Amino acid sequence: MGRAKKAVLAYSGGVDTSVCIPYLKNEWGVEEVITFAADLGQGDELEPIRRKALDSGASQSIVGDLIEPFITEFAFPAIRANALYEGRYPLSTALARPLIARRLVEIAREVGADAVAHGCTGKGNDQVRFDVTIGALAPDLKVLTPAREWGMSREETIAYGERCGIPSPVSKASPYSIDLNLLGRSIEAGPLEDPNVEPPEEIYALTVSVDAAPDQPQVVEIGFEQGNPVSLDGERLDPVSLIRRANDLAGSHGFGRLDMIENRVVGIKSREIYEVPGLLLLIRAHQELESLTLAADVLRSKRQLEQQWADLVYQGLWYGPLKDAVDGFIERTQRTVNGTVRMKLHKGSATVVGRSSATNSLYVPDMATYDAGDRFDHRAAEGFIYVWGLPTRLWAASQRG
Ligand code: ARG
Repeated sequence: MGRAKKAVLAYSGGVDTSVCIPYLKNEWGVEEVITFAADLGQGDELEPIRRKALDSGASQSIVGDLIEPFITEFAFPAIRANALYEGRYPLSTALARPLIARRLVEIAREVGADAVAHGCTGKGNDQVRFDVTIGALAPDLKVLTPAREWGMSREETIAYGERCGIPSPVSKASPYSIDLNLLGRSIEAGPLEDPNVEPPEEIYALTVSVDAAPDQPQVVEIGFEQGNPVSLDGERLDPVSLIRRANDLAGSHGFGRLDMIENRVVGIKSREIYEVPGLLLLIRAHQELESLTLAADVLRSKRQLEQQWADLVYQGLWYGPLKDAVDGFIERTQRTVNGTVRMKLHKGSATVVGRSSATNSLYVPDMATYDAGDRFDHRAAEGFIYVWGLPTRLWAASQRG
């Protein structure tokens, strides 16, 4: 691979990505490093991050607000897909990566760069998501991954940065590795690496403990249109405000914590803690509305494809052909997912207490009822069961010989 002249680096302000700047220039001969820090609703102050990149040697430091596309183009499709990796993790980090990669590529085009770069290590999932996405969108761009190759320990990385004039982290660095955006927070490493150790309360930031949650339950009504959440308690909200509100609400009742052993793309198991209050609440409610509005066979097929969708997104294949095809199926199903779901939040749980759809409910009361007014033809069951049970009776008879 020939040398890159100008690289656009995905920048977080942390030690690794900061050290990437002088490293790319000094060790790999990159002439110009332009950084890009994405605002994904993580609530960080971005101006200090922007300045830190310049102080670390970036020739240009770009900060971009991606919150709105993050929610509408990435989070909402995940809600429509009820996407839960390994049945649990709603992909809060995974969903952000193809968007950041897409923006890196756009910026590379705008500034005439011949490379993009990121500070991911070689054993995480994020490197896979970045590299695959960049390769799909811009095969001509070089992808530079210093942290995957420099082989420095954390101390060595900090020392390298100090030699290049990058201030070391002021406070004693937290033992945890944290990723944060508007959809949630992931916490790894430090004492959590022992899967048998209970997570200390101090690691949580978006959710209260069950002990601290209010004794009074709270019911929230979530409105959906074509599978997208559009209102809370009857108030129409734009997508970003709706997610924020759902996070606050669910988090304040201690809902949305996960502690799981997860299977990474690179073949290892890792222990992950997540706080995903709003997203998990919305997915639960969405599943519930689908149970009312989707036909049984569509629902069953969709449940299988949802797992596939979650795997694809987790594994970095957002822009791949199977994801594209499954998206087509999911979109088609969502036209009838209109209605409201009432969820009761209480002491760490979110339980459905009601669902309704004025336009698309497939629940037919006079078919379902046991009261007077029952329209179901009970006698028709006999012929149905005769045919339905025929193969079983024939097989059982053959076994008896
Ligand atoms: N295990 C989660 C995932 O793969 C979270 C990864 C967090 N990333 C990070 N660089 N800390 O989606």
